[in-house]
Amino acid sequence: MAEPIIRFSGVTKSFGDNSVYEGLDLEIHRGETLTIIGGSGVGKSVCLKMLIGLMVPDAGTIHAFGQSVTELGDQGLISLRSRIAMLFQGAALFDSMSVEDNIKYPLIEHNWGTPGEMNKRVSEVLEMVDMPGIQKLKPAELSGGMRKRVGLARSIAIKPEVILYDEPTTGLDPVNVRRINGLILSLQERLGVTSIVVTHDMDTVFTITDRLALVYEKRIAFAGTPDEARNHDLMYLREFIQGGRGTLDIDF
Ligand SMILES: Nc1ncnc2c1ncn2[C@@H]1O[C@H](COP(=O)(O)OP(=O)(O)OP(=O)(O)O)[C@@H](O)[C@H]1O
Ligand SMILES: [Mg+2]
Repeated sequence: MAEPIIRFSGVTKSFGDNSVYEGLDLEIHRGETLTIIGGSGVGKSVCLKMLIGLMVPDAGTIHAFGQSVTELGDQGLISLRSRIAMLFQGAALFDSMSVEDNIKYPLIEHNWGTPGEMNKRVSEVLEMVDMPGIQKLKPAELSGGMRKRVGLARSIAIKPEVILYDEPTTGLDPVNVRRINGLILSLQERLGVTSIVVTHDMDTVFTITDRLALVYEKRIAFAGTPDEARNHDLMYLREFIQGGRGTLDIDF
């Protein structure tokens, strides 16, 4: 298999007395779709945030594209985030801004080009998420599914190589779940992007996944294909995937 483009090695992370990771190891390869599963509050979002330098590990290393993320300065982090985009849990749109201005935000931050070029890019990405022509709407005028798709349009606007999706389908109806999953797949197929998807939804896992990783007991307890997961001897893993939403996940 090719060299991983992202590698976590021996990462530890605590918040005060709350130890979240005690030795997180994970590799991600170019072009794959990896889903991250695990109970509520185990550290899935923290894992993504550490990858783009929004949170700093206490120890261990995180490499992306051959660079050590923890050693990047402000400019290095901006450049990293143009290659690795994150769709935050809840989409996190700016409510006071139009759809167009929301999508332009990262374009401006990354010096995309002239106003004309930015307008063209906004149109392109809205088409990619099947919502052409909604530039002037405000987030409050959109349904939950539409907001997620605008969030996705914003994430892909700067043509990232890797997209991190934090629970992209949570709270959506089945039609919108399928639509978002279809978009994740088509971005991978059409643009060759690498995707890391945090999800509680097993349909999503089995529809889009090349490999899945389970966060359990403060580390990645399993990483492998769905078939390997089904046959693995870690009972929690089998229960998690068979129980749909994780039968032991009492916090859910
Ligand atoms: N900024 C923060 N300050 C303090 N503690 C935090 C912070 N962010 C996360 N935590 C703690 O780290 C742990 C992991 O949080 P995280 O948000 O990564 O969980 P998660 O697996 O994404 O959960 P969920 O499925 O509910 O989104 C939790 O105990 C949480 O309280
Ligand atoms: Mg989370």
